[in-house]
Amino acid sequence: MCGIVGYIGGRAAAPILIEGLKRLEYRGYDSSGLAVYHSGIHIVKTAGRLSRLEEKAAQLPPGTAGIGHTRWATHGEPSDANSHPHTDCTGQFAVVHNGIIENYRELIADLKTRGHRFDSETDSEVVPHLLEELWTGDLAETVLKALPRLKGSYALAVMAGARPDELVAVRQDNPLVIGLGAGEYFIASDIPALLAHTRKVIILEDGQLARLTREGVAVLDRTGRAVDARVTEISWDAEAVEKGGYPHYMLKEIFEQPAALRNTLGRYMDRDGGISFPDCRLSPGDLAGIGKISIVACGTAYHAGLLGKHLFESVLRIPTENDLASEFRYRNPILGPDTLLIVISQSGETADTLAAMREGLRRGARVLAVTNVAGSTMAREAPNVIYTAAGPEIAVASTKAYTTQLAVLALLACHVAQALGREQEYFDELRRGLRQVPQLAEGVLAAVEPRVQELGRASTEWRNAFFIGRGLDWAVAQEGALKLKEISYIHAEAYSAGELKHGALALIEEGVPVIGLATQPELLEKTVSNIREAKARGAVVHAITQFPLLLADAADACIELPQLPAALMPLLAVIPTQLLAYYAAAARGLDVDKPRNLAKSVTVE
Ligand code: F6R
Repeated sequence: MCGIVGYIGGRAAAPILIEGLKRLEYRGYDSSGLAVYHSGIHIVKTAGRLSRLEEKAAQLPPGTAGIGHTRWATHGEPSDANSHPHTDCTGQFAVVHNGIIENYRELIADLKTRGHRFDSETDSEVVPHLLEELWTGDLAETVLKALPRLKGSYALAVMAGARPDELVAVRQDNPLVIGLGAGEYFIASDIPALLAHTRKVIILEDGQLARLTREGVAVLDRTGRAVDARVTEISWDAEAVEKGGYPHYMLKEIFEQPAALRNTLGRYMDRDGGISFPDCRLSPGDLAGIGKISIVACGTAYHAGLLGKHLFESVLRIPTENDLASEFRYRNPILGPDTLLIVISQSGETADTLAAMREGLRRGARVLAVTNVAGSTMAREAPNVIYTAAGPEIAVASTKAYTTQLAVLALLACHVAQALGREQEYFDELRRGLRQVPQLAEGVLAAVEPRVQELGRASTEWRNAFFIGRGLDWAVAQEGALKLKEISYIHAEAYSAGELKHGALALIEEGVPVIGLATQPELLEKTVSNIREAKARGAVVHAITQFPLLLADAADACIELPQLPAALMPLLAVIPTQLLAYYAAAARGLDVDKPRNLAKSVTVE
């Protein structure tokens, strides 16, 4: 999970590459490096943040072609030597790589028998040495000769000292886009890195190679035959990926939720409440034939999927299971033609979720992907797709992707209910509720932010926190606890409120903060009793609820929400928990958008 950039044109390459890397830092950020051509290849690289690379890059000669990389270590610790670009024994080739070369040990052993020397502990370094061995005088041809030797996944950008006016990029199971400017061309792992320069892009397919010169871009297939690649016009503008006046992307993205929800709902629901999904080809007959639904995802996307189980199983009575993608394939799940496998992923590149999707396809299940990124591997491989229209999510902690995933699942359940002719009244109410969500979310953001900011400041004293709730409140509790721990590094546990007394209550003592979610009317009485149990042991309880009067004497404080149908309450209830995580991290002076040890796009298993 790294970020790749490349540039060839008439301007100095290094500043453009560094700007591009800054936009990709979310993909990984423990080390970085650049190579530029100026009478030979010059490389600078360093462990640590991009600011260190920027200092070092000042020593580079001016060159108008180059490649760059920001890394999140998988093989070998973050160090200068393990940073990319890597080179061969002669320094003639520079290569940046995202992915994993699975057979790198065999390749290294083989290359060493012929005298190759390796400077790093990475799998990636085998690539420049292979190019050195296979060099034909033509860079694209040499790269194509090397590819059959590589097992695993890769996006590669390559330059050669002998071919100063050319860059080569190639992908297999890792994203890569080519930006088309006027007399200048770009390579990037993701679109945000290109938007300052162009909106015209070619999204490379697996096995395709792009050859970039100052005259243009040629796309070739594995056999070297020219391919007619489709040029896509990107509608996001560069400003959409800037912070827009907020101190952090995460806060900006939390506040973008009303707009993201409006866009997502507007895309699929017409004024009369009719719902259609243009990229989903499941007919009413297909939907009627579904005997079981499997919802598979990781992290926050998994938490969003829990709403799917509630709507499909508890309401529509279709047996539904939720799985973590990293577990799914290894438990030999029962999947067949009557299974609808729903995979959810903001990035559309998460390795475990992709693997689960491919397993479903292999076993003949009907597959539907919910993703935020058009052109992602998931979007391209899934036969049916519903996009969350959240816009680019840059902060590592997922916020607006989660709420738009919830909205898509609610829309999908309405659509399935229509197809099956079931529970019309319930889903009519849900549709009416969905229309209100963007405006209510706006209201919640404005109303709760000052209170939660204060709570965030007070949380500098916290060492542990509990998030408790029942039913869908438990789902939100899981998301709230994940957000708090990943951003603020406060240990947080999500507990089903009714389960507390079976063990975890022992951890509740004087002053322990408990966030009590109480938004599900049918479970309210029981949740309130569980909150009282915690309070009686000394917990300081902050309740998130639309029933403040009922919680008045059970909780120490209430964060009040407006009313919506119960199944939609997670869309509002999660907002105070997102803000709490944000303000707790900000109060501790932490790097909110880039929490330690984490990356935005997890492209390894
Ligand atoms: C948490 C977070 C992660 C992601 C997970 C899946 O804030 O962002 O838990 O939700 O890595 O990522 P996607 O949705 O891209 O598959």
